[in-house]
Amino acid sequence: MITVALAKGRLAQKSIELLEKCGLKLDELKVETRKLVLFDESGEYKFVFVKPSDVPTYIERGVADFGVVGKDTLLEADRDIYEMLDLKFGKCRMCVCGYPDSLKKAGGILRVGTKYEKITREYFGVQGKTVDIIKLNGSVELAPVMGLSDVIVDIVESGKTLEANGLTVLEEVCSCSARLVVNRVSLKTKKGLLELLETIKENID
Ligand code: PRP
Repeated sequence: MITVALAKGRLAQKSIELLEKCGLKLDELKVETRKLVLFDESGEYKFVFVKPSDVPTYIERGVADFGVVGKDTLLEADRDIYEMLDLKFGKCRMCVCGYPDSLKKAGGILRVGTKYEKITREYFGVQGKTVDIIKLNGSVELAPVMGLSDVIVDIVESGKTLEANGLTVLEEVCSCSARLVVNRVSLKTKKGLLELLETIKENID
């Protein structure tokens, strides 16, 4: 059996659609349920639904053989797993955002609100800037609005959250999209995994 870890939320639906295109029968996954472990029709594939940031953990530990996760989460997690395919959906940008003059106006050490501490430290680190990173877990756009931080580092997809809160993109850190990640041992030992990865590759839009 092959176990697949999917990130609950934005990427799960697209991941299921892609796997169906590859011939998997996943009707059970589309029914509203609180179950966290589900199977395809043949019983060959087991699916676990986890928080996005936990996908790399499940893959690294070998509890799941492969999974789908955003490049943003992957960069932040920095785990010993193979990033095999760019699935080309879930496209977004990791950006420094704030008010138009936030970077210029901030005196002293720049205060940065973010869910992505590692990405933020590295981004400003290569510029030789020391920043005060304020770790947040959601609604990050609120930080500059409330004066908790000067800027934020966060993902921008449609840009609507920024716009609705009077903020704007100041610098782009990197672009992100959904990635297929694989456990190192599974790649060598799981029968059928390489074949499935080939089929997935052929079906990426
Ligand atoms: C993400 C991100 C932004 C928003 C960007 O938050 O942190 O807030 O989406 O999307 P947009 O550019 O299309 O508006 P998410 O919805 O994951 O919720 P969160 O605030 O709980 O992190």
